[in-house]
Amino acid sequence: MSALQENTALKAYNTFGIDVKARYFSEILTEEGLIEMLQSDLIHSQSLLVLGGGSNVLFTQNFDGLVLKIGIPGISAVANGDEVLVTAGAGVVWNDFVNYCVSHGYAGVENLSLIPGTVGAAPVQNIGAYGVELKDVFHSCKAFEIATAQSRVFNFGDCGFAYRDSVFKTTLKGRYIISSVTFKLSTKANINTQYGAIQDELRKRNILQPGIADIATVVAQIRVSKLPDPSTIGNAGSFFKNPVISKDQFEKVYHDHPLVVNYPLADGKVKLAAGWLIEACGFKGVIAGQTGTWKNQALVLVNHGHATGQEVYSFSEQIIAAVDAKFGVKLEREVNIL
Ligand code: EPU
Repeated sequence: MSALQENTALKAYNTFGIDVKARYFSEILTEEGLIEMLQSDLIHSQSLLVLGGGSNVLFTQNFDGLVLKIGIPGISAVANGDEVLVTAGAGVVWNDFVNYCVSHGYAGVENLSLIPGTVGAAPVQNIGAYGVELKDVFHSCKAFEIATAQSRVFNFGDCGFAYRDSVFKTTLKGRYIISSVTFKLSTKANINTQYGAIQDELRKRNILQPGIADIATVVAQIRVSKLPDPSTIGNAGSFFKNPVISKDQFEKVYHDHPLVVNYPLADGKVKLAAGWLIEACGFKGVIAGQTGTWKNQALVLVNHGHATGQEVYSFSEQIIAAVDAKFGVKLEREVNIL
């Protein structure tokens, strides 16, 4: 088991860069280390927080319990015809995994370039961007039950994937720790350029027949132009989810605000662009003390250097209230508040 630390600063372990401490902290580098930890008395006597890249949390206070940073490394691939099953340790940095796949010609995750976080966290909220979600390439994952230290393989159907959601966030929340994820990729690229911004960027670069490396480059370029780099400006990507509302409610919103960016869903409901709603309330690029919204994407809250989690949280409450007052739509946070 990796060394157990006490009173550990978490600033480097959350992309928001919030300066809080954990009572106990340990980095897990192997499955054996994980089992040993799960069999220890400590874990069962403390509140537990499992961290991957710390890219989806907002700490509003010190964490009075045990933080496990999952750092299990390694990537391996098994090809069978055009299909390739690629398994990555939960601690592999997501973008390193994408780069590995792109450089080996394994198609499927190129649209998910440059998403912050780790492989093990990716299924938890079914990460997605630019027309692709993790569930589109997910094969299975291996996880350990916290209560028993027993391992279990979760196949696609076990995971209950939905928009930014899975059983790991809902029915099985806090019960399992993912140690590795296996992806079903292909050596035959099925290029996905449905997202307008990708098409625009390819056209600008005069790329008529893009390969997966082109898509990865273009997606990374779009992200860099819209989203702040957490290594210089603390943030956790989209702070809110895009709200999904009923058709009736949408009709009311649309009647008063015909420009509202919306995506009709198969079940008749309508998803709205939260960034648009927030911008329409005058919140894009707003600086509020040490926090604010990003200048190019109002859905992203930022830490201008010394924000406290409380400050960011209060600001997010103001945004929720403003959007509710103007549109009658209640935004939900995507980021986990601790
Ligand atoms: N928009 C505005 N103002 C803004 C931001 C967006 O008017 O300040 C409008 C845009 O013009 C566009 C629409 O809203 O018409 C959607 O914007 P964008 O393409 O930037 O995507 P998003 O819906 O805001 C989602 C994901 C992102 C992901 C992008 C691209 C969620 C909560 N967010 O954002 O994911 O990168 O699509 O696929 O679903 C993340 O989860 O951390 C994240 C960054």
